[in-house]
Amino acid sequence: MTTSTVAQLLTQELKHIDIEVKGWVRTFRANRFIALNDGSCLQSIQCVVDFESMDETLLKRITTGAAVHIKGGLVESQGKGQSVEIQVNSIEILGDADPEEVSKTILQPKRHSLEFLREQSHLRTRTNTFSAVMRLRSSLSFAVHSYFNKNGFYYMHAPIVTGSDAEGAGEMFRVTTLDPKNPPLTDSGEVDYSKDFFGKETNLTVSGQLEAETYAMALGKVYTFGPTFRAENSNTSRHLAEFWMIEPEVAFMDLAGNMDLAEDFMKYVISYVLEHNKEDLTFLEQRLEQEDKSKPQNERAPMPLTEKLRFIVDNNFKRVSYTEAIDILRNCKPNKKKQFKYIIDEWGADLQSEHERFLVEKHFKCPVILFDYPAKIKAFYMRLNEDGKTVRAMDILFPGIGEIVGGSQREERLDVLKAKMAELDIPEKDLWWYLDLRKYGTAVHSGFGLGFERLVMFATGMGNIRDVIPYPRTPLNAEF
Ligand code: 4AD
Ligand code: MG
Repeated sequence: MTTSTVAQLLTQELKHIDIEVKGWVRTFRANRFIALNDGSCLQSIQCVVDFESMDETLLKRITTGAAVHIKGGLVESQGKGQSVEIQVNSIEILGDADPEEVSKTILQPKRHSLEFLREQSHLRTRTNTFSAVMRLRSSLSFAVHSYFNKNGFYYMHAPIVTGSDAEGAGEMFRVTTLDPKNPPLTDSGEVDYSKDFFGKETNLTVSGQLEAETYAMALGKVYTFGPTFRAENSNTSRHLAEFWMIEPEVAFMDLAGNMDLAEDFMKYVISYVLEHNKEDLTFLEQRLEQEDKSKPQNERAPMPLTEKLRFIVDNNFKRVSYTEAIDILRNCKPNKKKQFKYIIDEWGADLQSEHERFLVEKHFKCPVILFDYPAKIKAFYMRLNEDGKTVRAMDILFPGIGEIVGGSQREERLDVLKAKMAELDIPEKDLWWYLDLRKYGTAVHSGFGLGFERLVMFATGMGNIRDVIPYPRTPLNAEF
């Protein structure tokens, strides 16, 4: 006989059949009812033990957290709350869990704070909330690949170790094998990286974009989906030092095409989970409703989770230029009443998350694509507009999240790109290969980056980015 998963058993049409299942005991009550979970779905299956015919010592070992192998019959349930249950014939304890030890952990079946769960990230996926979040995360990444595959994109693996700073923001983790206590020095007393492993300075990638551009200029439509690293010291609920980014890059596509692609893509992945992850979404929606009850009215979610997701799928994203946005922000109430931390008074100001969220949540009340940003606040590779002061950049802002996507049309003109790099002191010798693209058949091309964890936050309704990635890396924290 083969072992079934709980998900299979709960959807099985056949009843009164012999089955086997393996999983972990969530609870064992009245010496009779085991709630067994194996992660295959949110629900646990009820297993009914006939304690009178069972060995006393074995019975004692059926404890919360224990791994068990159950053989029995799948029957229609007598009790409420489940359609089928297992009449246990035999039970084998695969791995014990000492109740005394379990009581110190989050396996203890009661409400725990998300902070406490985070301290035991290696166990938290055995809770309903985290198993639901992580199943959704898995489903979303499948949807990402599925979308690009259906639309003729090639999946490209950008390098993790690189010598370039794609964003030019300098927030990089150094990669080195030099001895920190005794590094080789140059004549002038600086660390001699020519003696380092790669013979030069290297770092963990902040973005696969520049390499993806080279591939788009050969394969046409490509995307990356991999880990990226930023040593920015921002301890917020939306920043990680290690996060996963999805970066499509397309040859012969301009900024308008880029916006269309991003919107279509976001709608696809969200509708995918609406269709395939109903059980987990319903659970998370109820969880949020519960959580909201203890919050003041103005901090509660404006709509239930699935309705919010449906809203994204069914409505057009509002496209607004940076200049229009600045006008709106300059004249809005929180700006005039100085309720913003950063007051907007001039064109050219960088937008903070409070401004982005005002635009999305209060003003437009729908996802917003902001485009044509001032060149000064954006990266070197973005295409300069004819006005000479704005670039073809776009950011997508989502309710509750703020910036979820950042992208642009790329500067394809060699002379303009060189001038921009010179202005920002980016050495041509570091990016000679990037400049080469502009020499051999240059063409209009565009792409964007989606922060995968921000998407998972949005789709699950989780409020902290640390709770949507298995092992979050943040300043002063790299446990597990
Ligand atoms: O806006 P960013 O910095 O853009 C780029 O890296 C471009 N190279 C993308 C491209 O055009 N191919 O980052 C893109 C997205 C952001 O919109 C945000 O969702 C996410 O990545 N992101 C982060 N997510 C979590 N933690 C961080 N520290 C993040 N920094 C950016
Ligand atoms: Mg950005």
